[in-house]
Amino acid sequence: MTLIRTTITAAMLALALPAAHAQAKLKVGLMLPYSGTYAALGTAIENGFRLYVDEQGGKLGGREIEYVKVDDESDPAKATDNINKLIKRDNVDVVVGTVHSGVAMAMAKVAKDTGTLLIVPNAGADAVTGPMCAINIYRSSFSNWQPGYAMGQVMAKRGHKNAVTITWKYAAGDESVGGFKEAFTKAGGKVIKDLTVPFPNVEFQALLTEIAALKPDAVYTFFAGGGAVKFVKDYAAAGLKGKIPLYGAGFLTDGTLQAQGEAAQGLLTTLHYADGLNTPRDNAFRLDYAKAYKLQPDVYAMQGYDAAQMLAIGLAATKGDPSKKAEFAAALQKAKIDSPRGTFTLSASHNPIQDIYLREVSGLENKKIGIASKALADPGRGCKL
Ligand code: BEZ
Repeated sequence: MTLIRTTITAAMLALALPAAHAQAKLKVGLMLPYSGTYAALGTAIENGFRLYVDEQGGKLGGREIEYVKVDDESDPAKATDNINKLIKRDNVDVVVGTVHSGVAMAMAKVAKDTGTLLIVPNAGADAVTGPMCAINIYRSSFSNWQPGYAMGQVMAKRGHKNAVTITWKYAAGDESVGGFKEAFTKAGGKVIKDLTVPFPNVEFQALLTEIAALKPDAVYTFFAGGGAVKFVKDYAAAGLKGKIPLYGAGFLTDGTLQAQGEAAQGLLTTLHYADGLNTPRDNAFRLDYAKAYKLQPDVYAMQGYDAAQMLAIGLAATKGDPSKKAEFAAALQKAKIDSPRGTFTLSASHNPIQDIYLREVSGLENKKIGIASKALADPGRGCKL
């Protein structure tokens, strides 16, 4: 009797265990802004992520993907509760998010404390791949320092001797301006004034009047999403376009050109993506994205797509088990990620080492006109994995 029971139990286990593991869905928590000034950015990231997963037949690392979504509203005050709900209530295996640097920093703290896998598909907060870096935290996008630093070099090379900066007063704006200043001042340039408005305020009029009075050689700016649309239009309406050249991190004109219209034409920006790359990889991505969503992809869609690619690489190495952190990290550390932006690798602190393109707005495109900085690595200051 005992023998029969033992035999049946062993047989049942042999059948049931591998099957149960193979069938378990992998829960992906998408923590993104679906409302407010960054709403369109969150949707583009989700679209890009889903596109890659769909191209793999809905499975990564042999596991079917299930999504749980939360609108983070780009509100840092709600961030800890939101990510805790995904991890503790919804039991997600991985969190993908977010857009806003302040929200991302709160998420990184929880991810580090709980050991949950976090892939950041936009937010550039330098700290995430700096002092807050961790074996289970990755970024598919950029650090705020990267496009800013590249533009500082470009503006100095273009002969500008002084500049005013203008941005939102939060980590992304401060750090983008920080990167710009580092390169611009190293090349002999001088920043005569830093102007800020609180996030997500779009009342720019008083500051534009101040820029007109200061008459700098040029202006460097970080704005994105709905705020970027309003800023570029207000800059032109204030009569500054054509008088004081405006430059920016590429978020200023990515995903925004339809709404900005004439006011954006000719603007130069730096970013790790551009229109007109014309590589087979990017052309295929663009075609597939356009077919799936009846829209052209932008930098945010591309970053979402690559977040899914990075997850796929880690899961392939761990047979679908993201809790095997060392194996997951080793696979990504040695990977050459086949991105639509061009192949990139990850730094030791898990931030992309990538080309930063110089782009010029022409019609509805941010056309690549050169490479502002080749294989630019974030300094990753203070990261101890
Ligand atoms: C950020 O908060 O890090 C960010 C938001 C939008 C575009 C780029 C960066």
